[in-house]
Amino acid sequence: MYIFATITFYEIMNEQDFGIKEIISHAKEYGFVFPSSEIYDGLQAVYDYGPYGVELKNNLKNLWWQAMVKLNENVVGLDAAIFMHPLTWKASGHVDGFNDPMIDNKDSKKRYRADVLLEDKAAALAIEGKQADADALLKQMGQLLSAEDLSGVRQLIIDSGIVCPISGTSNWTEVRQFNLMFSTQIGSVADDASNIYLRPETAQGIFVNFLNVQKSARMKVPFGVAQIGKAFRNEIVARQFIFRMREFEQMEMQFFIRPGEEMKWYEHWKQVRLKWHKALGIPADNLRFHDHDKLAHYANAAVDVEFKFPFGFKEVEGIHSRTDFDLGNHQELSKKKMQYFDPEINKNYVPYVIETSAGADRLFFMLLCNGYKQITVGEGENEKQRTFLKFHPALAPVKAAILPLVKKDGLPEIGRKIFDDLKYDFNLIYEDSQSIGKRYTRQDLIGTPFCIAIDHQTKEDEMVTIRHRDTTEQERVKITDLKSIIDKEVSIKNIFNELV
Ligand code: GAP
Repeated sequence: MYIFATITFYEIMNEQDFGIKEIISHAKEYGFVFPSSEIYDGLQAVYDYGPYGVELKNNLKNLWWQAMVKLNENVVGLDAAIFMHPLTWKASGHVDGFNDPMIDNKDSKKRYRADVLLEDKAAALAIEGKQADADALLKQMGQLLSAEDLSGVRQLIIDSGIVCPISGTSNWTEVRQFNLMFSTQIGSVADDASNIYLRPETAQGIFVNFLNVQKSARMKVPFGVAQIGKAFRNEIVARQFIFRMREFEQMEMQFFIRPGEEMKWYEHWKQVRLKWHKALGIPADNLRFHDHDKLAHYANAAVDVEFKFPFGFKEVEGIHSRTDFDLGNHQELSKKKMQYFDPEINKNYVPYVIETSAGADRLFFMLLCNGYKQITVGEGENEKQRTFLKFHPALAPVKAAILPLVKKDGLPEIGRKIFDDLKYDFNLIYEDSQSIGKRYTRQDLIGTPFCIAIDHQTKEDEMVTIRHRDTTEQERVKITDLKSIIDKEVSIKNIFNELV
């Protein structure tokens, strides 16, 4: 099967993806993201996080958690299992409706998402300056998909002259719906009753625990439940690096509210979440809302927060007004009441829900794209390119590097002492070989905000040189002030201050 076919690290499908190539190479070279099981030529759309990647991702997840659970008194956490009772996915609509339309090319045997083939064609038309044709094509596709007219979608692909990039032919199969859930068996007996799914979203773990959380934490509507965890989707189109993966992580929050108040809370969470993205250091111009044209089966309003990736504005988070769809369906299928008694209005009801659903991997990718800087420094013969990763210091994988200028004369001992004093507070690197210039460059490439150089003068005055990543400016400071100087910059309170 094509899933195990040899892949390139880039998986570049069209020209628009090109700007991303350097960032992807950088991510691998400097220990952020590796292709999964690379020695066996990789596994499509599955990736591993390296030493600096895992730190950055953990910082991001921690920040989201703290911002949700600590800053909001009425939001609590949950960690539900990946496996859930199979009826969960019947109630949520995923068994019947979580499909992508796929089409195979009979000559190359390659499988594609029919809607993506048409979207790519529309993008190509737009690049050629034929925006009206592109819009018309997308509109027609939308209408056919809404009407579930799959043979109409196939005909549109043929009429638009779309050929398989591998075989170059338009020898297409029928378009079929392909369910994106991975299934496996639980227990030792393989029969229909033991079929189970890997969760395609973390949200359902929150819905089925709604009453457990509400009662045990004595929550009153409105309240939210936040969760971070893995989700799995058998994506047909695997490309754009960690943008679309088969195994990924979501950071989701379901906010339970009184029916009828959904638009108020929908607007509230839209603004809160946009602010959060800006507080990470993403310029406002590179963020935008995109209202859904076609609403998911569970939503009565939905918007994406999009970031301007090198390949265009794309979704990093969804905010959905899910009504009482999920709780109502779970109530019906489980025959267990999913109601809340609201003492203020003396009424029982199934709460409505506003969901904020961010992809940890997509936000990670956004931080990489936003942080990757290449600038020209120096003049004339001294002119050169300087590359660095400009992460918010609170998110940076390593906060400071301790760098004795030479590996002798007692400087390493001073460096080790500084390292030992600070290691409980910050993630640090100690390095005492190679030239100081090379060591600075290496820290720039992994986004370390501070380099601390120890020189011979340090022995006299107990002061060190701090070099700042973004400006390369250097300042002389007392060793005893290091903790407070670093702390001031890397504290997540800096981000929290932007949120309140
Ligand atoms: N519970 C609602 C839900 O899952 P979604 O729009 O399908 O909604 C939410 O997904 C977020 O999860 C997306 O905005 C994206 O950041 C992330 N996501 C979804 N599919 C993904 C994939 N295949 N790879 C990486 N991230 C993905």
